[in-house]
Amino acid sequence: MSSNLKNLFPNIDDRVALNHGSYGLLPNCIRNYLNKIRCLHEDNFLSYIDNGLIDDYQNAVCCLAKLIGCDSDDVVFVRNVTTAMEIALSSIERAICANYCKVKRIVTTNHEYTSTKIMLKHYAEKWQVDLVVIDIDDLTTKQISHKVLQIIDKDDLLLISHITSPHAELIDITTLVNSIYRDCICIVDCAHTVGSLEIAKEIFGKAIFCFTLHKWGYFPRGVGALSVPNNLKCYFKPLVHSWFYDDDFNKRFLWTGTEDIFPYLVANKCFQFKQYLDSNWDRGLKLKNYVRKRLNSVSKLQAIKANDEVSNMLSYYFLGDKDDFARTSQILKEANIEVWFGIKNEQIILRISLAPYTSIIDIEKLVNKLNI
Ligand SMILES: Cc1ncc(COP(=O)(O)O)c(C=O)c1O
Repeated sequence: MSSNLKNLFPNIDDRVALNHGSYGLLPNCIRNYLNKIRCLHEDNFLSYIDNGLIDDYQNAVCCLAKLIGCDSDDVVFVRNVTTAMEIALSSIERAICANYCKVKRIVTTNHEYTSTKIMLKHYAEKWQVDLVVIDIDDLTTKQISHKVLQIIDKDDLLLISHITSPHAELIDITTLVNSIYRDCICIVDCAHTVGSLEIAKEIFGKAIFCFTLHKWGYFPRGVGALSVPNNLKCYFKPLVHSWFYDDDFNKRFLWTGTEDIFPYLVANKCFQFKQYLDSNWDRGLKLKNYVRKRLNSVSKLQAIKANDEVSNMLSYYFLGDKDDFARTSQILKEANIEVWFGIKNEQIILRISLAPYTSIIDIEKLVNKLNI
């Protein structure tokens, strides 16, 4: 691989890609490998199903487990983190109906992803339990876990992000999971985890982890994963009933109707790519210090506190009014700057993701446009 990290990605001269993962760029080596295996097997897919596909899929699951840092028996591929969380909630419902566990309340924070909030509201109504939303505005990482631990009680179901979106705060899930796992079920939204920060080995098996791999894991769009503690595995089923529905945990998720299987099968390349990045990139940390300094000069921005702990993303409250927001959005769009800039909980937020292809020139273009 080249030593210039930008060369590892497609050339996007006039675009400033400050979003991440597959909304940014897929590395050339992974794109090429995906095309190669697709060409190799596409024309003769029936014979590939009989001869090769299952082995390749199982190898991909082993690479996935290495990438995540868990045991290959405990993890399965699913399409994305949203699907993983829906599987988790519908499976917990199965465990409740079987009297294996109780859920008295669903607890979450006010910085969770919007579709997650919609999903939790649906299940709280269905199960006729309260949905408790903890306000974590303007708290540090330590303060967030302290507040959650004060509120959480036996038989609560906690759904919490490892890194929130778009606020990009780090939440100390090691402390949280270790403190509550004997009393509560915990689902962790790990959308921003793989390739960005590790999950402590000691907490696998103590919570349900839902991953997205097409963000910092550099998989093609539509690849996610789900890791489930042993005691809950028998309740965990795919959302669709298909060939292996009644088989053991791993096989159940192998075939959930016909879908594009190849994006899963690049797992070995993604693992190699991560190893390369781990030894050649500081996950954006140096660049982040530079960006912080430059963005501090933009009077309309105020840094979000618990975000300092995250290396590759920066989030700011935008202090302008709605007209200012609309004007700045237009300016960024016209300058071809792709960045998360939107409204969450009535606050306007700007989130910048620093990828291996992000340059100082990209940052200067952004600062320049924000200052207009
Ligand atoms: C924290 C968080 N959760 C969930 C999601 C949803 O991801 P997906 O669309 O891959 O399911 C995102 C996407 O940005 C996210 O940032």
